Amino acid sequence: MRNVDSAIGKILQGDARSFMRDLPGESFDLIICDGPYSVTTHEWDNVADIQHFNLELLKSFSRLLKPGGAAYLFGKPDCVDFIDYRPWLTLQSRIVWYQPSRLAQGRVSYTNNHDVICYFTKGKANTFNLDDIRVPQLVELAHRLRCENVPSVRNGKYGKTVFNPNGKNPGDVWGDIKQLTYKSKELVSRELLNTIQKPEKLMERLIKASSNPGDLVFDPFCGAGTVPVVCERLGRRFVACEINPDYCRLAETRMAKATNGDASSENLFEFSTVGRNGQPVISQACLV
Ligand SMILES: C[S@@+](CC[C@H](N)C(=O)[O-])C[C@H]1O[C@@H](n2cnc3c(N)ncnc32)[C@H](O)[C@@H]1O
Repeated sequence: MRNVDSAIGKILQGDARSFMRDLPGESFDLIICDGPYSVTTHEWDNVADIQHFNLELLKSFSRLLKPGGAAYLFGKPDCVDFIDYRPWLTLQSRIVWYQPSRLAQGRVSYTNNHDVICYFTKGKANTFNLDDIRVPQLVELAHRLRCENVPSVRNGKYGKTVFNPNGKNPGDVWGDIKQLTYKSKELVSRELLNTIQKPEKLMERLIKASSNPGDLVFDPFCGAGTVPVVCERLGRRFVACEINPDYCRLAETRMAKATNGDASSENLFEFSTVGRNGQPVISQACLV
């Protein structure tokens, strides 16, 4: 069995599945798994039965997570259909990452324009930092005040209902984080667009929500290193694995450049609104 401490802060080249078998149980606070989707022609994405593949991953994650830890599994809308993961982890949400700019190529059915990010926990979640991931209230101040003053709200069992001036829970449909484009400054290489590299803002939301500074995050399929870069910036420790040596090198170069400064905001639109005190509130994001 490998000592997890010796892997902290490293991007290890190899097969994530054998690497995981060597790690001791209850090692991680958070796992972010953006692995094969089984939709592209990449050799690494050639998985015959993606649901079964994902079930085996979820079993490993259940062993590797600390009690109360969280795992996010990326995939297509059917990525956990017809498998029973319930003995291992609890599915809390299927987050829809909506990408309105995806090419609408469908002719005989509806074009798929979202990925899912399945949010699992090992028992009851230890961490859910809602205040760190709030998004703007998308209703006007006057309407919010009217809602709060409806007699049934004021006098009823939801009498304490108020719109939080710092923003709302992002919910489970995320349309406010754009896919990377050829023009994105954070894009490491054109070859990685669409099927590989994810926006830092997307990983940032998951990491902020489900870990605290100093926590240990595992990324078994780290590609160009988005999760390690964001962990470094947010003061989380990480262990990462990637099978392709070229991507490992890209990720390491990117890590070397990562600074401790603020994240790039290029994938979010700045949004200005008015707080409950009438003062302007500059929020983090708005719908595209
Ligand atoms: C969707 S990409 C991850 C992208 C990453 N989140 C990023 O933002 O750059 C999936 C990655 O998994 C890697 N991969 C596929 N099978 C693997 C395996 N068995 N072990 C480790 N890495 C693997 C691929 O080489 C690919 O880079």
